[in-house]
Amino acid sequence: RPAPDFAGAVAEWQKRSGRHQLPWQGTRDPYRIWLSEIMLQQTQVATVIGYYQRFLERFPTLQALAQAPQDEVMPYWAGLGYYARARNLHRCAQEICLNWSGRFPGSAAEIATLPGIGRSTAAAIAAFAYGERSPIMDGNVKRVFARHFGIFGATSDRATEQTLWRRAEAVLAATAPTLDMAAYTQGLMDLGSTVCVRGKPACALCPLQDSCYAHAEGRQAELPSPKPR
Ligand code: ADE
Ligand code: SF4
Repeated sequence: RPAPDFAGAVAEWQKRSGRHQLPWQGTRDPYRIWLSEIMLQQTQVATVIGYYQRFLERFPTLQALAQAPQDEVMPYWAGLGYYARARNLHRCAQEICLNWSGRFPGSAAEIATLPGIGRSTAAAIAAFAYGERSPIMDGNVKRVFARHFGIFGATSDRATEQTLWRRAEAVLAATAPTLDMAAYTQGLMDLGSTVCVRGKPACALCPLQDSCYAHAEGRQAELPSPKPR
């Protein structure tokens, strides 16, 4: 089943129907984008917004964060949970000031070398800040890819995970260089959290409906495959 322009369809849908008013959209400052992505890793958008704004008022730049003692940073995280994220955030800021001359690393591969930043988060930051063509693959995006491309196997399984990443790379390789990477990346996130949701996805609203394996076969409930037990 052909997906003539998977990425283009997602990017166009994002521009028309995705989320546009989030406070970390409309900046290309890698510091602000990085902060938002770390906060959003395990916390919902609605909760993050207030924390994000208060954090940036107190620590408006990477330098301000790096120079603050850690016990001044933690209160701005209190309530968000997963406190290792805040400690890594602070360590990252100090490492960038020390080893990167205070300039946020300029590529996904370099960003992924920082403490606590995985491949998908690094790619999201690079896509939003620099327009870099690196794929993301978080939990929501795994669901979209597994359903659309008919990729079976638990997404926690190493082989399945590798298949998903390969497919995400192949999609970009097959897409025109004019693709708006920020819109595509945000579009995948928005699609996974508002349309291609767990349980019953809203396929009628999906820009990928015509090329989707799970929709054509009525197998949305089987994908992604559950964790074996
Ligand atoms: N979750 C992770 N990154 C996000 C983003 N940029 N916007 C909305 N939700 C997200
Ligand atoms: Fe998900 Fe349905 Fe869209 Fe397929 S058509 S990607 S199952 S929302």
